[in-house]
Amino acid sequence: MKPKQILKIAVDLLMTASLLLLMAYSLVYGSDPTVGEAVHEWLGVGMFVLFVLHHILNRKWCKGILRGRYTSYRVLQTVLVALVLLSMCGSMISGILLSRTVFSFLGIRSGQMTARTVHMLSAYWGFVFMSLHLGLHWSGIMGMARKLTKKPSEFRKWTLRGMAALVAAYGAYAFVKRDFGSYMLLRVHFVFFDFDAPLALFLLDYVAIMGLFVFWGDFLAAMFVQRGKRS
Ligand code: HEM
Repeated sequence: MKPKQILKIAVDLLMTASLLLLMAYSLVYGSDPTVGEAVHEWLGVGMFVLFVLHHILNRKWCKGILRGRYTSYRVLQTVLVALVLLSMCGSMISGILLSRTVFSFLGIRSGQMTARTVHMLSAYWGFVFMSLHLGLHWSGIMGMARKLTKKPSEFRKWTLRGMAALVAAYGAYAFVKRDFGSYMLLRVHFVFFDFDAPLALFLLDYVAIMGLFVFWGDFLAAMFVQRGKRS
């Protein structure tokens, strides 16, 4: 594998891990929520750096955005990239306005309620968009993993598919249990964090919710690619 490819994978893995930890907000350092809040803000800054790096590494795709024919798959992919970009900007700008540590020197006090609403919407919708975006590229990731392993077998293929279905099913359960939909639709204005439950359980549920949308992203990609072949 070329060094650039390895760097791309490392950045993508770090972004996925950061996203999951960011969703845990101050629970990320639950034994002291004040430290947790500061860790959240620094993680947010780290996510911004990774996001910029991700675009530099994938600049070829960005440069070609106005070139070539748009198949239905490409339209889906581009719309999703735009939504990820929008939610990321929303999280970052509102995060800076709400900051109590890293950007507190800016002394911003107004518009806190609006910033809080934007931050919550961007975080939860962004999580879904980023997971779908990952799902759209899932077959490519699996293809790379296949190259690293020995001969593929039918047994392994079906075991992996079974596992994906199980993760998606648990993800659907966690989505409901964690009230994810209520945050996305602003039915609730404050996120509930249980400081008595271990962080690992929170992350497990969020990994599964991510898995659910990766599953749907992969399914959508397969459907759109098929449709593109027929048209
Ligand atoms: C992709 C990036 C980010 C994600 C996914 C994210 C996610 C979250 C989530 C899930 C919460 C808890 C929900 C809430 O109370 O609204 C939260 C709260 C918060 N985040 Fe972020 N965040 C991100 C970036 C940032 C950045 C860059 C900063 C500041 C430097 C920041 C500062 C805050 C603050 C101050 C709160 C507490 C808001 C309140 O008082 O209600 N976040 N974030």
